[in-house]
Amino acid sequence: MSETLWNHSLSAALAMRMLCRRLRTQGEEQAFLAGLLHDVGEMILLHGDPIGFAKLAAEVQRAGCRMIDKEQEAYGFDHTLIGLTLLDSWNIDSQIGRAVLNHHSDATGDGSNQLAEILGVADYLCCKADLGFFAEAPAPTAATMAKFGCDSDESLEEMVQAIRIAYNEESALFRPT
Ligand SMILES: [Fe+2]
Ligand SMILES: [Fe+2]
Repeated sequence: MSETLWNHSLSAALAMRMLCRRLRTQGEEQAFLAGLLHDVGEMILLHGDPIGFAKLAAEVQRAGCRMIDKEQEAYGFDHTLIGLTLLDSWNIDSQIGRAVLNHHSDATGDGSNQLAEILGVADYLCCKADLGFFAEAPAPTAATMAKFGCDSDESLEEMVQAIRIAYNEESALFRPT
């Protein structure tokens, strides 16, 4: 399960960089880091409560519900709050912390936290590329997808394919030879 999470984190980082380029916005490296760390709270839950977390994951897969809701039910908090707490303690840019806290709530929101909105899109695209982490990413609104030029089936597939290619290239660097 740790490997699935690492694969998801790397692909989200790469997707964030691509989406930032599409928006022609500053902060590509900040976006990359946000993607890499957005689910770091899952790693803490996974290692802190491996049996409980595996049960939650199985339930999420069976019922098709959101991991974040199951975490709230089981622990009274979720991986986004753990992520924010960790990032704060590491003195990482507070904008990244805020985006991590909101990455499951701003994907269909008003875009007031742009980094969180991009994270929501990156998360969704990674799921489409079979590089997700359980059933956690809802589809962003059509208006949000249009901002990134992914508003048709063809353009969406093209982006998903680009993420797969980037992931295959970059993950090769970390594989033991
Ligand atoms: Fe998440
Ligand atoms: Fe994620």
